[in-house]
Amino acid sequence: MRARSWTHRAGAVRTLRTVACLALLAGAAAAPPPCAYEDRPATVVPPDDGRWTVLDTVFRLPGDWRPPDLVAARRAGFADDRFVRAVMVPDLRALREAAAAAGHSLALWSAFRSYDYQRRTFAYWVERDGRRAALRTSARPGHSEHQLGTAVDLGTTGGPAPWDQRDWADTPAGAWVAANAWRFGFVMSYPEHARDKTCYAYEPWHWRWVGRALAAQIHADTRTPREVLWEVDHELPQRDAP
Ligand code: DAL
Ligand code: ZN
Repeated sequence: MRARSWTHRAGAVRTLRTVACLALLAGAAAAPPPCAYEDRPATVVPPDDGRWTVLDTVFRLPGDWRPPDLVAARRAGFADDRFVRAVMVPDLRALREAAAAAGHSLALWSAFRSYDYQRRTFAYWVERDGRRAALRTSARPGHSEHQLGTAVDLGTTGGPAPWDQRDWADTPAGAWVAANAWRFGFVMSYPEHARDKTCYAYEPWHWRWVGRALAAQIHADTRTPREVLWEVDHELPQRDAP
């Protein structure tokens, strides 16, 4: 994988590590910037992969950025025509099967969304609820984790859309996912009462795959995924490649 060779460039790694340490000491990289509506270029982490990229209302991907390994979500056992990243299929399948074994049939309500698809999605919510309300729950194009191909919106098979329910995490399936998704490498990007940290309103249906090791780390942390990912992104040269 290219990310592996990137981390193996020892000289560059040492330099980046020093810069990251100095930045951390200076407090510059300790926390992501405050949530604001900006269009700063996102740093894709790892390069050409993107699974740990911080995307929010501040940072955005280019319009032509696509994940490298999109495949049909059917490979994870969902009866669905959407796409996810191949690298997360084993964990997504394991999550779906463990939920089913516990009596919960999960449905996919959204998965990969291209820049253009997100443009249309955001426009839909602006048209429906007005721009101010839309900004609380929908990402402007380039700003959505769905463009990374690693975010999925989950619901209950046969049930209403999770965002049309009072709190999907209070339903049996939603509660099971909230308690167990981290074991399969998924984290809830937008937990309740954390909008100042996550930049978006509570979304109990939106799960982002980051891999099992980092999901366990985030699960054990009191901070939001965005805050932990920010730290990870600035320490990446010290981490093993995926
Ligand atoms: N609903 C989330 C913020 C998105 O649009 O990606
Ligand atoms: Zn989502």
